[in-house]
Amino acid sequence: MNAAVRAVVRSCIFYGKEAVGIYRGYDGMISGDIVSLTSRSVSNIIQRGGTILKSARSKEFMTPEGRNSAYQNLLKHNIDAIVAIGGDGTFRGAQIFSEEFGVPVVGLPGTIDNDLNGTDFTIGYDTAVNTATVAIDKVRDTASSHNRLFFIEVMGRHSGQIAMRCSIASGAEATMLPEQPMSVDELVKLLENGAGRKKSSSLVVVAEGGSPGHTIELAKEVNERFSHYDTKVTILGHLLRGGAPTVADRVLASRLGVVAVESLLANKSGVMVGVVNNEIKFTPFDHATKNVDNFEQEMLRIASILSV
Ligand code: F6P
Repeated sequence: MNAAVRAVVRSCIFYGKEAVGIYRGYDGMISGDIVSLTSRSVSNIIQRGGTILKSARSKEFMTPEGRNSAYQNLLKHNIDAIVAIGGDGTFRGAQIFSEEFGVPVVGLPGTIDNDLNGTDFTIGYDTAVNTATVAIDKVRDTASSHNRLFFIEVMGRHSGQIAMRCSIASGAEATMLPEQPMSVDELVKLLENGAGRKKSSSLVVVAEGGSPGHTIELAKEVNERFSHYDTKVTILGHLLRGGAPTVADRVLASRLGVVAVESLLANKSGVMVGVVNNEIKFTPFDHATKNVDNFEQEMLRIASILSV
């Protein structure tokens, strides 16, 4: 997020425009929490996790009154275009707002979940996957030293993208995903096969899906039917949303931030900027968030071949 903010601010300055930062997203737009940003305001932030502008889920922006107050504040600050960084909620808000008031808005995909159409990767995803993989590697040390079965839950609301990738990277035995649910029967069978092949431990990576913490119940259920190893659960949760971004994320955010400003200057609006096959792609907000279908069956196939 910070790399994206930096890129937007510096691109504005490069093209002779002024940049302001709106704190806490739409909440700050409604309360007028808006500050002028210079090149120096965004110095030394490319390597920092979180966002200097802070973030919030705004209930008030869902109401016409809230959006009208936000618009009045934009007029007050002479703001004539917006770069909105976020995921589905951010883009739904951006779409309604720009239709209601005619303010040009371009979006940047900022979510660790990688759950948007129109970009191969969202900003933050690579960092989250790397953080998860480092953590899972450490869990593997205990799992194999103590002959244990570990369930490791990772973030991803309605999306198994994080789970799938860190599962392959850490050599996990199984992956539980909302896109391709596996029954407890199937999982037990898979674990029994592994134990039969003399595996000293097993790791199951579970996507939190819609209910964070559900892995505890899943582990209990499996443990009742499979007692070959001691069973433990590790929930990584918000650990995945912080820390220094990877190089891939810094570069992606920088590239997209520059293009967001250039596209507003070229009168684009109502679109998210993404990268597909290493090329810039513009996707209308409603398509970026609707019926997201970016699950790669191929990854599941690779994981299952490699977990024998
Ligand atoms: O949308 C990104 C995400 O990280 C999800 O994976 C997760 O379910 C959710 O945010 C957690 O949000 P909160 O911090 O509000 O609990």
